[in-house]
Amino acid sequence: MQYRSGKELRELFLSFFEEKGCKRFKSFSLIPDDPTLLFTIAGMVPFKSYFLGIKTPEVTRATTSQKCVRTNDIENVGRTARHHTFFEMLGNFSFGDYFKNEIIPWSWEFLTERIGLDSSRLYATIYLDDDEAHDIWKDKVGLTEDHIVRLGADDNFWAAGPVGPCGPCSEIIYDQGPEYSCGKPTCAVGCDCDRYLELWNLVFMQYNRDETGNLTPLPKKNIDTGMGLERLASVVQNTPTDFETDLFKTIIDKACELSGVEYGTDSKKDLAVRVISDHIRAAAFMIADGVLPSNDGAGYVLRRLIRRSVRYGRLLGIEKPFLVDLLPAVRESIGEEYTELVERSSAIAQVLNIEEERFSKTLTQGDDLLETEILKIEKEGIKVLPGEVAFVLYDTFGFPIELTEEMCDERSIKVDKDGFITAMEEQRTRARASSKQTSSSIEKNIYTELANKLDMTTFLGYTETTSDAKILAIISNEELKESVTIGETAELVLSQTPFYAEKGGQVGDTGLIVAEGFEFEVQDTLYPVQDLIVHRGVVKSGSIKSNANVTASIDFNRRKNIQKHHTATHLLNEALCRVLGNNVRQAGSLVTPTFLRFDFNYFAPLTVDEIREIERIVYEQVLTVLPVKTTVMDIEEAKKAGAKALFDEKYGDEVRVLDIKGFSIELCGGTHVKNTGEIGLVKIIRDEGIGSGIRRINAVVGQPALVVFQRYSQTLSTILNMLGEDTDTILGKVENILDEKKVLERKNKELQVKAAMADIENSVKPAITENGVDLILEKFAGITPDLLRQIGDRIRNKFPVAVIVLIGIGNEGNVWMISLASNEAVAKGAHAGTLLQKLATTMGGKAGGNPSHAQGGVKDASKLNDALTKAPSIFAELMKGQN
Ligand code: SER
Repeated sequence: MQYRSGKELRELFLSFFEEKGCKRFKSFSLIPDDPTLLFTIAGMVPFKSYFLGIKTPEVTRATTSQKCVRTNDIENVGRTARHHTFFEMLGNFSFGDYFKNEIIPWSWEFLTERIGLDSSRLYATIYLDDDEAHDIWKDKVGLTEDHIVRLGADDNFWAAGPVGPCGPCSEIIYDQGPEYSCGKPTCAVGCDCDRYLELWNLVFMQYNRDETGNLTPLPKKNIDTGMGLERLASVVQNTPTDFETDLFKTIIDKACELSGVEYGTDSKKDLAVRVISDHIRAAAFMIADGVLPSNDGAGYVLRRLIRRSVRYGRLLGIEKPFLVDLLPAVRESIGEEYTELVERSSAIAQVLNIEEERFSKTLTQGDDLLETEILKIEKEGIKVLPGEVAFVLYDTFGFPIELTEEMCDERSIKVDKDGFITAMEEQRTRARASSKQTSSSIEKNIYTELANKLDMTTFLGYTETTSDAKILAIISNEELKESVTIGETAELVLSQTPFYAEKGGQVGDTGLIVAEGFEFEVQDTLYPVQDLIVHRGVVKSGSIKSNANVTASIDFNRRKNIQKHHTATHLLNEALCRVLGNNVRQAGSLVTPTFLRFDFNYFAPLTVDEIREIERIVYEQVLTVLPVKTTVMDIEEAKKAGAKALFDEKYGDEVRVLDIKGFSIELCGGTHVKNTGEIGLVKIIRDEGIGSGIRRINAVVGQPALVVFQRYSQTLSTILNMLGEDTDTILGKVENILDEKKVLERKNKELQVKAAMADIENSVKPAITENGVDLILEKFAGITPDLLRQIGDRIRNKFPVAVIVLIGIGNEGNVWMISLASNEAVAKGAHAGTLLQKLATTMGGKAGGNPSHAQGGVKDASKLNDALTKAPSIFAELMKGQN
């Protein structure tokens, strides 16, 4: 068989299916528009709504090489020949077009004729009762009976998840030869070992499975096939595992170079090299598609992969950050096809660097802690790591729980996961609050039905503020209505409209839709689903029926303010890049008539100077009165022109490009001012971090900016008047006031201490006296440990033969305690350390020390009173033991 590189195989596949009439799509994002999935797990995911019949596809045949991530088996990656987190799926899809009769012979033709696989090594598995597939394999392809194997649902029924499109499938198996066999007498097609390799899955997608498990036939019969490129390359290149193929070779070589490993000489080291080589591909692609490390969702998976790689790097003896050094190898092996790796290379490097450094700082400490705990456990013979320890590793040292589990597993120790989960509860609640989107654009409802049925509303609002239109549909409470009348809220769909529907961060327009005797106040305009614009509002007078002719007019003043903020957002985007560096990427925005919000990836708060410079640059463009132009062009042309784009946004082939002459060029569907002079004043009013390396800027322009300046200036004047200062002297004055305040606060504290001391000296009495030694027992709330110690010294002066136990209760309910015993008390057998330890234990806390001095703490104050009641008898007991 002729050698072919991964790149050649990808191209052969895609062009083969192009010849069969399939449209070639570029790989879709790794992050699907589907709330049931964290990642794109198969080539069919981006086409799900076509299979379900919810959306009508623009073509009925498609082919892709799709970036996929699967995370269900991360621990196995590197240990087996073919587990990967990231892989490419070669796929072809029929949406109600070709079916079994075509795809089965085509797949055979591709594998045997195009690629030249030895047909005697190929087998087909089919679903138990799928006689149709059987006959095609036998009669059309010519496979003999012994090469057609019927298997059950586990092997030959495919579904992307518990609900959704699914169907029986037929897998093409490649026999790698007996040397790959597990050796069991039962080893045959269907065996999980490496001999019978599942090469290509042909899914006959004909059902939808609902939440109760019921299968209903889909509107049309579809085809979804998927073949792992890495596997195919491994067969064609005749390598023992996927990791020796050219798709991985450069990365493996680089990882070996960085760690000084000679691949193939030490199986443990090989494993680490494979893990790193797999994970770096996944991490780079995830970041390129907009994922950032975090503690939930896709970001958590990314964090796990990066941290797992760092740990494996350490096992290979790599002490310094190294992941970034692997990126050129990743680009070399696969960057030609996936240009996002090149375009986003500095962002990828930046995110990897930060995450790696962050974890490296705590890895050694965490390792030490885990080692100590494991030794303890091994000594005690328990074999279970307490959940609390796993949580400390997670929370303080950043060890993903799965990493802790894996590290424990290497020592045959289990992790108390329930204990971990309990300890995690709080974080969980937080994670849930920030969790993923709640509605899916692939949900089937009245909106998707309308979107399919009606022609898309023509948007006139780039040039018009008012227009005639026909009402195409009236929706109220998610139902179609024939008419609406005064007082009712409704959503109107129009044939054409000047109203901008919320998109790309720009809020929807408001305004009026009128006809004779009828007035409808539009309070918002939006896309409830892609391809459908609704005008949401309330009938102010009269009533109206579907099909009526109306006049629609936007609130133009409001729109003008929105446009100013929108164009200013573009200026700000460019100015941020110029001041903070080209790695800055927009992560989201909100453009309203009164303010704008701009989210971008950056890892530090902006300095006063940076903010001032950004404002200056933006304002300079305003003063220069730059013309603002839009052009519709081909996406590739726009990219070539250097247009900025949102990296996780899906764009069509034709895009609208906004050009602020000579300053900024950006893809944008929004509405804008005609020249930057219209924007007027510009002021950034807030810069804040919103987690995961994203910062948020709020700014105002035009009239709203004037209001802000007026408010600032008014507040300043009032302060100047109050303090009798002017703008030159006010700062010095405020500093003085603050200094004085500090001094007064300190003095006040000292007085408080004195008062507390005086009171203590008078009020303290021994709780019990045993063997001539007094026990002094006092608790205080809201004082510092330092002060507690001072109080202890004072009491010691008054009670020379005593053990003093002082307890402080912190604001969070935590308890710390000290115990002091005088020399005389020690001579009589008192022991501050033992006493405090016993006391702490009754409260579930810890303490330690020597006979004359001890300290300790308790997390929870609820048992404090009980312990205090018991303290005298504990003390008495201990003292008696000394007699
Ligand atoms: N969706 C099927 C799979 O992932 C075929 O593409 O195996």
